[in-house]
Amino acid sequence: MEILRWKPQDALVVKAPKRNPLILRMVVLLFAMVCGLYIFSFCINQTNRDNNPLKIQVIDRRRNWHCRTAQIQEWDIPYVHFPEPQTFSRQECSCNPVRFFVIVSMQRSGSGWFETLLNSHINLSSNGEIMGAQDRRRNVSAILKTLDQVYNLDWLSSASKNECTAAVGFKWMLNQGLMAHHEAITDYFNRRGVYVIFLFRRNLLRRLVSVLANVFDKNSKPLNGTHKSHVHSQHEAQVLAKYKPTLNATVLVSHLRAADQAVAKALEYFKSTRHIVIYYEDIVRNSTVRIISLFTYD
Ligand SMILES: *[C@@H]1O[C@H](CO)[C@@H](O)[C@H](O)[C@H]1NC(C)=O
Ligand SMILES: *[C@@H]1O[C@H](CO)[C@@H](O)[C@H](O)[C@H]1NC(C)=O
Ligand SMILES: *[C@@H]1O[C@H](CO)[C@@H](O)[C@H](O)[C@H]1NC(C)=O
Ligand SMILES: *[C@@H]1O[C@H](CO)[C@@H](O)[C@H](O)[C@H]1NC(C)=O
Ligand SMILES: *[C@@H]1O[C@H](CO)[C@@H](O)[C@H](O)[C@H]1NC(C)=O
Repeated sequence: MEILRWKPQDALVVKAPKRNPLILRMVVLLFAMVCGLYIFSFCINQTNRDNNPLKIQVIDRRRNWHCRTAQIQEWDIPYVHFPEPQTFSRQECSCNPVRFFVIVSMQRSGSGWFETLLNSHINLSSNGEIMGAQDRRRNVSAILKTLDQVYNLDWLSSASKNECTAAVGFKWMLNQGLMAHHEAITDYFNRRGVYVIFLFRRNLLRRLVSVLANVFDKNSKPLNGTHKSHVHSQHEAQVLAKYKPTLNATVLVSHLRAADQAVAKALEYFKSTRHIVIYYEDIVRNSTVRIISLFTYD
């Protein structure tokens, strides 16, 4: 009986070497499949996350890895950029970090004066009220295109300092598409680490007087037939100050309340951004300390 003589040990001796490579092969194959699947899913995740702020920062960090210095703190990385403008080369300043800011304000709140103050610094560029033009803020895509141009240093204005700019921005009035498209704009500010500087006036009554005086100036042009939103000499200021506006008491309170509510709404809309609220009256009193604390360079 051949079958009875068959011993389990024989089976082990003969079959073991045959089964082992098969199992090993299966294990290796399985491992390779799992690895492949993992890499594939990782790739899909990456392509799906094109809008993820983290990814953009990572790319930014890699591309300019040679610019990274020990001076930049880890927490500061999202706010520090190394733009590569298309219209010119940053040359020896290509590794000078650039910070992005926006001055969010209302007409007649001292933002013109504040910008002049910022632009007096050799490394600061505040490009003015660029969203005043309708076609730059007609829709979200037009707004984002304008923003990209500004923060890529490709916005050329009399204020642009070009290659050695260390902080770039502009002033944006609440009624220039900012509130209407606040969601997309908040996303953009957070994604690109734009520092929002709210500049408002504590005395809204004075602001209203200034609005009325500005409307009067626009219509009657007492300065040799030119309209001046901002005066540049004492003489000009004296001429404009001769006008005494009349306030309509019926609508005064509701006008002031509307301005106050606009400010509150803006602060609510953009509260998730990195921001600071400053008041014209405070910086007029003591501008030095406050301006310096806005941008820390080292
Ligand atoms: C957005 O506005 C610009 C002009 O400002 C226009 O060229 C463009 O087609 C508009 N895009 C959409 C999606 O409406
Ligand atoms: C400021 O600009 C000057 C010259 O334009 C440049 O040498 C300097 O490195 C800049 N500083 C910063 C902090 O970018
Ligand atoms: C504008 O008018 C003032 C007097 O009001 C005069 O001194 C000044 O020269 C004039 N400027 C121009 C550019 O005409
Ligand atoms: C004040 O405003 C109200 C509401 O707009 C208007 O009816 C009224 O005529 C205004 N009064 C003056 C003096 O302009
Ligand atoms: C501005 O304020 C700071 C304190 O915040 C003070 O040390 C400094 O002397 C003030 N400057 C002026 C010109 O008042």
